[in-house]
Amino acid sequence: MTDFPVPRAPADAPPAPAHVPPELVLDTRFANGQVTNNLPDPYIATDILLDPAFPRIHYYPWPTSGNQHGAWVVTRYEDIQRVYEDNDIFSSEGVAQFQMLAGETWPSIPLGIDPPDHGKYRKFLNPWFTPVAMNRMEPRIRGIIGEMVDEFADKGEVDIAWDFGRVFPVRVFLDLMGFPFAMFDQFLAWEWDILHEPAIATKAAAVQGILAYLRGFIAEKQAAPDNTLGSFIANGAIDGKPLTPEEVIGMTWFLWLGGLDTVASTISQMFRRLGMDAALQERIRANPDIIPTAVEEFLRTQPLINSGRKVKRDFTWHGVQIKAGDWVSAFDSSGNFDPAQFANPRSFDPERKANRHFTLAGGVHICLGAHLARRELRLLLDEWFKRVPQPFRIRPGVDTTVTPGLLSIRNLPLVWDVAT
Ligand code: HEM
Repeated sequence: MTDFPVPRAPADAPPAPAHVPPELVLDTRFANGQVTNNLPDPYIATDILLDPAFPRIHYYPWPTSGNQHGAWVVTRYEDIQRVYEDNDIFSSEGVAQFQMLAGETWPSIPLGIDPPDHGKYRKFLNPWFTPVAMNRMEPRIRGIIGEMVDEFADKGEVDIAWDFGRVFPVRVFLDLMGFPFAMFDQFLAWEWDILHEPAIATKAAAVQGILAYLRGFIAEKQAAPDNTLGSFIANGAIDGKPLTPEEVIGMTWFLWLGGLDTVASTISQMFRRLGMDAALQERIRANPDIIPTAVEEFLRTQPLINSGRKVKRDFTWHGVQIKAGDWVSAFDSSGNFDPAQFANPRSFDPERKANRHFTLAGGVHICLGAHLARRELRLLLDEWFKRVPQPFRIRPGVDTTVTPGLLSIRNLPLVWDVAT
């Protein structure tokens, strides 16, 4: 361990619990969306975590999973799969429980609920997120993309992160839920504060703001039901029993949190790669049939989230004593590049087969919005290459640094030649 090129956590890192061996407390912030870089593959640094000499499990002392605690970290595909699938040991209770900052104690639904109860909420929500439901949404999604891309296609430039990626998935989501478009800017401001502002008071104020808004929204949908998902939840029942106020706010809140900027970050990282790789762009442009597998490969190579789980009972893993109440973080940022699972994991293969990555998680909590996210990304590439037939590139001289995670890229100006 002593000559291993990952530093121990510095002296000013938060303290680890007493049962954690000090030599396992490592500074892997670079693999947890905390350190910006400007590499063509911004996740390449995680290779070190897959080196056979790197410990199978280590401890990350900084806050994880939207909470204030550190966590044990696993980095190999097989171990991450266990974290997602072994519900006897790993619980998602308390993950991304930002509402606690506003003194609220109800769980996020469905993420904060373990099986078997989790299943009944998934069953309730699933019909809105199936491929068949996406077929119904497709014309509307295509329409939004077409309208937005046509606004800039003949100008020869767009800030794909700020003017497109940030806006498009939110427009789709507002429609689905029945939120008014007038809330657009306020939603993004609240979400930014909750996910990305370090100050707890700022986060707490944003959580209070959105929860007050959502409670008003729920009351409106109860008074005047309509055919949106927001109304379906507000007036919902499971097994003939109306949902409790906690269940209604728990679901509405978590959909709001999960649906806003994950697709946005994916879009900016996807266009960053395409803008840097003219041959890849040309390959997809010439073969639109490969768009579905290309989207899957963009997802694999751009894992945004490292999921956390709380340990339910003491157990030993890879020779390390893990205690009930400890947290474990599954570093999808390295698992998606594990050579034990993926051939040539650092090469971007837009036709990769059997691409079972963790970007949309795994196990029972596999992303509920997975089909929606995939459909949005596929339709985007399809419409983009039809409406912007010229090769595009990142505007020379702009800052292309990226945070390999949810924070990603705020601005990314693209340019292309237009006929004059
Ligand atoms: C590329 C875009 C997206 C990515 C990368 C992503 C990623 C994830 C991940 C990693 C999880 C699991 C978290 C965990 O197990 O701790 C998750 C769960 C979830 N996501 Fe997504 N997501 C995306 C888009 C969406 C969208 C568009 C929606 C909703 C409109 C959504 C709603 C949810 C919900 C409700 C869950 C919880 C599922 C459950 O607990 O059963 N996601 N997502």
